[in-house]
Amino acid sequence: MSNVERVCGFLDDAKVYYLATAEGDQPRVRPFGTALVYEDRLYIQTGKKKDVSRQIAANPKAEICAFQDGKWIRIAGELANDDRREVKVAMLDKYPSLKAMYSADDDNTQVLYFREAVATIASFTAAPEELRF
Ligand SMILES: Cc1cc2nc3c(=O)[nH]c(=O)nc-3n(C[C@H](O)[C@H](O)[C@H](O)COP(=O)(O)O)c2cc1C
Repeated sequence: MSNVERVCGFLDDAKVYYLATAEGDQPRVRPFGTALVYEDRLYIQTGKKKDVSRQIAANPKAEICAFQDGKWIRIAGELANDDRREVKVAMLDKYPSLKAMYSADDDNTQVLYFREAVATIASFTAAPEELRF
């Protein structure tokens, strides 16, 4: 399994992760759940109308944290917008409940992928493991 598949699998198992962005010098964090591997990239989904989207447009640096089964993951990198319809379709197909709020053809749905990502999986019992993708 590739690094990006392992990282996405961790987020799938955790179901909820926390996405941190920056607004000026103020950190902002909120729960997220969407994660998809597409063309060997890790994508997340949001709405262009949200504050989180504005923050990423102004400063693409972001981190994700999740905890699952005694291990935690931190994913650090930059988030890049991808307006390709096929990626939005794949994301909405993975999370059909989102189709009540989003569609691949609205002007709100946004998918973003991690660039230069470094993920670290850590626990109290084992040495941290670094996964780059
Ligand atoms: C369990 C859970 C999962 C969520 N997943 C997402 C998600 O994947 N994408 C998203 O845009 N919002 C998601 N949300 C909603 C955001 O947390 C919420 O819209 C938040 O206010 C967005 O951050 P902002 O206010 O800084 O824009 C989720 C909320 C919960 C409780």
